[in-house]
Amino acid sequence: MKFLTILPFMFVTILGDSIIDVSYANVPLLDGRIVGGSPVTIEDYPYQVSLQLLGSHRCGGAILNDRYVITAAHCFTGWPTSWHTIRAGSSVHNSGGQVIQVNEIYIHPNYNGTLLDFDMAILYLVSPLTFGPAVAPIPLPLENQFYLDDTPAVVSGWGAMVEDGAASLQLQAVWVPMVNNGRCEALYAVENYTITDSMLCAGYMSGGRDACQGDSGGPLVIDGLLIGIVSWGEGCARANFPGVYASVPYARSFITDITGI
Ligand SMILES: *[C@@H]1O[C@H](CO)[C@@H](O)[C@H](O)[C@H]1NC(C)=O
Ligand SMILES: *[C@@H]1O[C@H](CO)[C@@H](O)[C@H](O)[C@H]1NC(C)=O
Repeated sequence: MKFLTILPFMFVTILGDSIIDVSYANVPLLDGRIVGGSPVTIEDYPYQVSLQLLGSHRCGGAILNDRYVITAAHCFTGWPTSWHTIRAGSSVHNSGGQVIQVNEIYIHPNYNGTLLDFDMAILYLVSPLTFGPAVAPIPLPLENQFYLDDTPAVVSGWGAMVEDGAASLQLQAVWVPMVNNGRCEALYAVENYTITDSMLCAGYMSGGRDACQGDSGGPLVIDGLLIGIVSWGEGCARANFPGVYASVPYARSFITDITGI
């Protein structure tokens, strides 16, 4: 039963549909809090949002511009679009900031929920965000922009701080080094998981610092550019299992197609 050891990086909600997610995905989604990180304030991560289902934190996301937010495709499991909102501009996921309803969900056309290939979705909001010190868009890399192993990247979210833990009220962030796809593929081959070109990996071989359940859809950032979207992993912060992210450079044209950015 690999799903007992492998976790989606999206949160279980009151609706209990995470059961559905883990049964159809062949890989562990990331649903929890950042592991091994530190509490941070939204002013230092103003692109971070909480994606909520009926007002409960479910996933992370990142602001592309005042009308578009990017997140993970596996955060959506068929609930009505109008049940989803985003909260921007708050360091805590359950109060403050700006709460705006989602008007449209664009799932990547090549998304495969079994492999979690192209695990990316763009949200169009019913009304624009107001930018300020706590709410700002994040710039994007060029198509196929490449980063060497060990390039430091920062991931943030309200996910679990330990595997199987509860959501963090305060936003957390942690730095993790990039791991190339060949090496990541070799590590995950032990569990028969595939690392595709639409994925990126980051983490310490010793474990201890990672994204976790509830962080899904959140941003992985290098030098102020959005490089990855939190997607899945074998547990959280386990040795020799880096976190796996949807690659923004690889899916760059999808973002342009939807948003014009
Ligand atoms: C997803 O990938 C799996 C494994 O390659 C494949 O068997 C399946 O048909 C794919 N699903 C879709 C909807 O393309
Ligand atoms: C991986 O696949 C091989 C060949 O199908 C199988 O023997 C092995 O048990 C699988 N390992 C896991 C961890 O599922």
